[in-house]
Amino acid sequence: MNNYLSNFPLHRPRRLRKKKWIRNLVRENTIGPNDFIFPIFVTYNNKSTEIKSMPGVKRLNIEEAFDLSQIAKELGINAVAIFPEVPRNIKDESGKEALNRHNIVCRLVEKIKKNSPSLGVICDIALDPYTTSGHDGLIENSKVVNDKTVTVLCEQALINAEAGCDIVAPSDMMDGRVEKIRNYLDKNNKEETLIMSYAVKYSSNLYGPFRSAVSAASELGPDQKKTYQMDYGNIDEALKEASLDIKEGADILLVKPGIMYLDVLKEVKNTFKYPTFSYQVSGEYSMLKHAILSGEYNEKEILMETFLCFKRAGADAIISYFALDIAKILKKG
Ligand code: PBG
Repeated sequence: MNNYLSNFPLHRPRRLRKKKWIRNLVRENTIGPNDFIFPIFVTYNNKSTEIKSMPGVKRLNIEEAFDLSQIAKELGINAVAIFPEVPRNIKDESGKEALNRHNIVCRLVEKIKKNSPSLGVICDIALDPYTTSGHDGLIENSKVVNDKTVTVLCEQALINAEAGCDIVAPSDMMDGRVEKIRNYLDKNNKEETLIMSYAVKYSSNLYGPFRSAVSAASELGPDQKKTYQMDYGNIDEALKEASLDIKEGADILLVKPGIMYLDVLKEVKNTFKYPTFSYQVSGEYSMLKHAILSGEYNEKEILMETFLCFKRAGADAIISYFALDIAKILKKG
């Protein structure tokens, strides 16, 4: 009895937590600048403007957007994702500016690739910044129509690929679009362009600040985007969406939003063992940023925790508006 008590407890997990050096050695997941993609908002305006709901993030004119991409590169970020803010007078029902080979996105892609060919550039494939409705697709009889939208998305993907982007990222949630985009790119000698499919994209309240950033929130109607984006009560459906996109030829799967959907991320990663990225969306940025600014959270501590949790759940990479902040933190060590 004595003997038994004398080495109780045999296992003391706290031994591995006693000092920082040992905690560092046994840490199971790590993060580095390599894990991040930085989203950039580019505007047609000459003047850059603050985005009220996203303190610290701006809609940048093309020069400043380019400069920021170079800062990202210097910090070790591998890729940037471009999102346009389109003025009201250029938007229309069909979002035809999306197919303008010299629109602001294409011009920024060309500028970045010309100066920094080694920085990956990702273009969003969806019509919402360009349509007066703010919907991702074409509308007929008050409905977002699938197949006609897909035809337009193929063209949008091709002009972005022709401008030089490395990855096209359909974020529209139309059915069958990955297959059509893949075929269309291949037919036009763009077989090297990657497709990162927003395979699992939920209809989320957390996109609010993004929609005001790209001025695409006003006329969505009562169903918002629920007829194409997924219901947040579902997870089997996430596996169905992911498996369809793999069959259709996606190179990378994206799960979105991030932190409230880590169970989905883990399930998708573990089921398919496919490159799987996560998007920490605008509303997540807003929540954290406001709490950091109010002094409630220490920026370094909360960001380290947040991003290690993404990695632990299985994210191969993370799209985040905090990408530059975390890269700076990691640099300092
Ligand atoms: C457009 C698109 C959205 C986001 C990325 N691409 C908005 C939406 O679907 O309404 C959201 C990103 C964010 O909230 O940070 N299809």
